[in-house]
Amino acid sequence: MHPSTHPPIHPSTPLPHILFTVKDQGRGIPADKLETIFEQFQQVDVSDSRQKGGTGLGLAICKKIVQEHGGKIWVESVLGEGSTFYLALPIADS
Ligand SMILES: Nc1ncnc2c1ncn2[C@@H]1O[C@H](COP(=O)(O)OP(=O)(O)OP(=O)(O)O)[C@@H](O)[C@H]1O
Ligand SMILES: [Mg+2]
Repeated sequence: MHPSTHPPIHPSTPLPHILFTVKDQGRGIPADKLETIFEQFQQVDVSDSRQKGGTGLGLAICKKIVQEHGGKIWVESVLGEGSTFYLALPIADS
């Protein structure tokens, strides 16, 4: 099923939350890399840093900040079609 056609449900998504969705039509991310790309210096391909100039830190920094806020960040992707990043931040009840 395409990621955008069903509501993103994640076990550790805080409730209530505000959900941000960022969708692209890029190369997609292999299923076995959907979690590891959020770890520092982890890239889908070892040539990514050379060819695209990244350091492999962006998503790790995002994850750290989101975790400090009690939120959740994750990605769904279809290889060759694109990726959808989800960012859920808890809404304060006070
Ligand atoms: N939207 C995306 N589509 C496909 N692959 C992605 C996408 N975003 C990240 N990736 C993959 O995840 C890896 C890690 O991303 P991350 O943003 O943490 O680091 P980076 O972009 O390589 O470098 P930096 O953000 O530190 O400049 C990327 O190198 C790439 O392989
Ligand atoms: Mg990046």
